[in-house]
Amino acid sequence: MCYNMFMTRYARRLDGKTFVITGVTSGIGRGLAQKLILDNGCRVIGVGRSVEKMASLISALGENARLLDGRLFDVSQRENWLSLASSLSSSGVRIDGIVNGAGILPHFANTGKTTPENVEKALKTNFLATVYAVDALRQALCESPVIVNISSAAALATIAGTGAYSASKSALKSYTEALRAEMRGKGQVSLIMPGFARTEIFREQNTTIESSRLFMMMSMPADKMVAKIYRAVARGRRRAVIGKDAKAMDFLYRLLPSFAPEIISSVIRRAKTPLFSDVFND
Ligand SMILES: NC(=O)c1ccc[n+]([C@@H]2O[C@H](COP(=O)([O-])OP(=O)(O)OC[C@H]3O[C@@H](n4cnc5c(N)ncnc54)[C@H](OP(=O)(O)O)[C@@H]3O)[C@@H](O)[C@H]2O)c1
Repeated sequence: MCYNMFMTRYARRLDGKTFVITGVTSGIGRGLAQKLILDNGCRVIGVGRSVEKMASLISALGENARLLDGRLFDVSQRENWLSLASSLSSSGVRIDGIVNGAGILPHFANTGKTTPENVEKALKTNFLATVYAVDALRQALCESPVIVNISSAAALATIAGTGAYSASKSALKSYTEALRAEMRGKGQVSLIMPGFARTEIFREQNTTIESSRLFMMMSMPADKMVAKIYRAVARGRRRAVIGKDAKAMDFLYRLLPSFAPEIISSVIRRAKTPLFSDVFND
């Protein structure tokens, strides 16, 4: 009861704000957009690529869909961000925050089997898209803005077969920390590092997350992850490590920085999960 009242007080400071959110067509981004619209009456300029998935979000929002301004574009192309900035400027729209949620999880494979093109795609979508967004939208930001960058537990300790993803999320972590230091006292910069959540992000893998007991034990349902990220943002958290897998990775890396990636990879290898079959049967 007390906790709910405490949270309500924090969450109210987001009421009526205008956010640009990427990745609104699926998973975490969609969940955050829905919460900000339905719980806080926020206006969301929501970015995704899929027409069908955007239509599904609009239909789920019902009459509140008027608070969603859906934009379909590829976040990894800088010119698309410059076009969005120019369209906001010509219509006089100011924004209170940006949630950089769009991301991809490339197929789990050893570095020797990952093409440079796939590494570039991960870096552009998971890291450079945020750089483009912050750069292009800087002029449109109101005073004391909220910037939320969704990195990953993969930036805390990497796992064999996830080099491109971990590199992109580590770059995002460092960029976010530098941005926070630069914006000290001038806004909120939240670095979110989730562990595994059961969304559609595993679409590039050999199999679903449900096929692995270890991953089902370690991961959390998408709606629970969304609620935890929303709470972290509402409370103005600077850094949120979410999920027991993420917390364990954080702890292990702090304790044994030279061995943590091997220890975690070895646990996954022993579990013989089909998700990592191309990594450990190589
Ligand atoms: N789920 C996890 O276990 C987990 C763990 C740690 C961190 N994260 C991070 O959390 C964020 C959200 O992931 P999720 O699990 O919600 O994944 P998801 O369900 O696959 O959703 C990804 C979203 O990103 C959008 N997107 C991807 N590439 C894009 C591009 N080039 N241009 C525009 N939009 C693009 C997708 O749009 P379309 O579908 O319309 O293409 C979709 O809306 C990602 O940054 C991810 O790395 C997830």
